[in-house]
Amino acid sequence: MSFTIGKNGSFIEHVKLDAYDISLLARGDGTEIMIQTIAKDNYFYIYPSENPDVMEFFYILQGELECEHEGEKIKFGPNDYYYAKNITENIHFKTLSDVVYLWVITEPTFYQLSESISEFTSIVEKVEQKDRYTMDHSERVATYAMKIAKKMRLSKERLENLYIASFLHDIGKINTPEEILNKPGKLTDEEYDIIKRHPSDGAEMVKGSYYDGIVTIIEQHHERLNGTGYPNRLQGEQIVLEARIIAVSDTFDAMTEDRAYRKGFTVQYCLDELKRLVNTHYDENVVRAFEEVLREEGRI
Ligand SMILES: [Fe+2]
Ligand SMILES: [Fe+2]
Repeated sequence: MSFTIGKNGSFIEHVKLDAYDISLLARGDGTEIMIQTIAKDNYFYIYPSENPDVMEFFYILQGELECEHEGEKIKFGPNDYYYAKNITENIHFKTLSDVVYLWVITEPTFYQLSESISEFTSIVEKVEQKDRYTMDHSERVATYAMKIAKKMRLSKERLENLYIASFLHDIGKINTPEEILNKPGKLTDEEYDIIKRHPSDGAEMVKGSYYDGIVTIIEQHHERLNGTGYPNRLQGEQIVLEARIIAVSDTFDAMTEDRAYRKGFTVQYCLDELKRLVNTHYDENVVRAFEEVLREEGRI
């Protein structure tokens, strides 16, 4: 249970840009509630979402703005509102004075504006530049993880956390020396110990961001069901499902892609390998869901 009170302009995160500022007040089950201020004489628009079920709702608290809709100009002032669902083209607005409105959207958007998240994203880009064999690794892992999680019917809120966590899972590698990341041969125990720090380092880095749920997921993405993983040798259910999903997506991507010392393996080979390690390393339900995804996509 949670009951949260916000007083006097409090917020989860606040972003200030040139013409506007925006505060995230609450989020849950994929829905976000924000307060946005836009300065006078600015243009903006709402645009179609990829997801037809998304609803966006705006309630004007202060100021005036106008929009153009079906060739007509419509003015909005305090206590007016509008909402959009399944629109097919952009709807354009202009602020006639400084405007403050409440904005509710049923799909996560704030992460695209969040300064902490964009900082994290740029660190991940640096990690991928350091390790030339992991270009776009994070994005692919996030894509696989989402497909598996949707198959397993995780709630919207968990999907959202999983998406951010899988995209950021290797962020802690920013501390791993390039020579170790790119070493073609076998790693020494010492070097391997350094690699093993990245889940905890990553968890530490994202602590305190408004995506609180991602800390544990990132910390546990190299744990294995039988306790042979790192950093904490957790077992079975001690490892959160989201981390078990990333473990499968991560391993699959590492195996299918080319490395310094070998070519990538075939999809079928990688899947067989995951299946061979079911219950010792990987979650059976996760691997089964992934197999279904690959089959639907015609990759096996
Ligand atoms: Fe990792
Ligand atoms: Fe990874």
